[in-house]
Amino acid sequence: MDQNHQNDIVAKTGLEPHVLIFPIPFQGPVNCALKLAELICLSGIHVTFLNTDHIHGPLIQHTDVLSRFNRYPNFKFQTIPDGLEHEKPVSGDLFMEVMAATETVGKPVFQEMIVSGNLSRRSERPVTVMIPDACFSFAIEAAIETSIPVICFETVSPCCLWTSYLNLPTLIQAGDVPFKGDDLDQLITSVPGTEHVIRRRDLASFCRSNDLSEPVIELILKEAKTVPRANGLIINTFEELDALVLPHMRKLCPNTYPIGPLHSLHKARLVAQTTQKAPKTNFSNSVWKEDRTCLQWLDKHSPKSVIFVSIGSLATMTVEQLVEIWYGVVNSEKPFLWVRRPGSIIGGYDESQIPGELLEPTKERGCIVDWAPQEDVLAHKAIGGFLTHSGWNSTVESIAAGVPMICWPYFVDQQVNSRFVGEVWKIGVDMKDTCDRLIVENAVRDVMETKKNMFTECADNWANLAKESIGETGSSSANLASLINDIKRLSASK
Ligand code: UDX
Repeated sequence: MDQNHQNDIVAKTGLEPHVLIFPIPFQGPVNCALKLAELICLSGIHVTFLNTDHIHGPLIQHTDVLSRFNRYPNFKFQTIPDGLEHEKPVSGDLFMEVMAATETVGKPVFQEMIVSGNLSRRSERPVTVMIPDACFSFAIEAAIETSIPVICFETVSPCCLWTSYLNLPTLIQAGDVPFKGDDLDQLITSVPGTEHVIRRRDLASFCRSNDLSEPVIELILKEAKTVPRANGLIINTFEELDALVLPHMRKLCPNTYPIGPLHSLHKARLVAQTTQKAPKTNFSNSVWKEDRTCLQWLDKHSPKSVIFVSIGSLATMTVEQLVEIWYGVVNSEKPFLWVRRPGSIIGGYDESQIPGELLEPTKERGCIVDWAPQEDVLAHKAIGGFLTHSGWNSTVESIAAGVPMICWPYFVDQQVNSRFVGEVWKIGVDMKDTCDRLIVENAVRDVMETKKNMFTECADNWANLAKESIGETGSSSANLASLINDIKRLSASK
């Protein structure tokens, strides 16, 4: 739809498209949502970005998002209280606490905003389409109750969304969850499409619980019910990558828009809309301060020689696990860049707890930082492998950069993602459930030495498909165009 047609619609209905984006308050979802927001802004649609106080504070402290988005007259930030007292971003063990507090404290404020407040029909610019995180069932329900069209944004992987979220009721009905007995290698045959791939140990981490009344299970069961009731579903993948699950998912959610790799599409669009010869595209949306000096350290290394180690924004490890992984990496004899996010080692550690035989080689060939510019790190030619917790953003970023992975999943979708990396996409090793030093060393050597050619070939292949998908005629570009059109159409029908 061109601008004139859009203006006609506005003239007829009086309602300009105005999207409300509402991510859950964690690094990964907020980062993705900001990219989606900018893509929508670039199409001329008005966007309000709703953050909770807990995440907005560190975001504006460590980034230039306020001035960056200032250049869009059609964009504004808004915040709501979440009742959280933590001043810094929290780790994954507090995920449910954050979600519960946000719902208890934020829900009434949110409802007031959309029913009678500054986003409501009574306001100057009512919200015409809502894009909440798919996990925010209360926001989706509020949109449905107030007849505001709603398109969910799911930032976990589609392979997890399908196998462990949308099919959780099926898994429970089939008696597959909770598990009977302790054989984690048993195949799960009740989920269409992944019968030959997914074992019990590859389902989302909460499926290992024996207690179906756990809050996290209740949250996911709610999501499984609400997401198919929405007008659409946005996911960060591309058609080829999730060809195993997308046809099944579309039976439940017909208007599914795979627009990934989102960070690549976002970058490409920023480049396309500028007249500058070398536009800046490495913006940070991080709630920790990025240490960019590690890029200079990488410059000193030969192509594909360095292993990058990072467990994302929520995962944690014990000191014992740290030491095992550290031994594995050091014994592989590869240079390494390791992100040790503040708070990610449970209880912290000091060097007196670490054997000298780890500290010496680390001085020689290691670089440790609090937080790295990960997209730039993965795109650096010196990186040959990524030892990752298999968070969905990290996985997609690694796929787009053609970097093979060594997976040590921590929670939620990461167990599913690591299985797909190892068995479906064949771009790495799934260490799942163990980080024994010998297993780590062998996995690093497999990816960086013995099976390097095989993994690199597969990783290059996926990276090329990812690149095609965001090209002018690619599937993700077409899906983004449909999404923008549908936002305008839904706004007009209000
Ligand atoms: C959690 C989930 O487990 C994940 O699978 C889900 O999709 C979102 O929430 P998280 O720990 O945030 O994940 O990992 P991930 O999804 O990989 O996101 C981490 C983000 O932080 C990535 O975009 C990555 O580029 C960025 N990052 C990480 C940095 O910018 N610097 C770092 O040093 C480490």
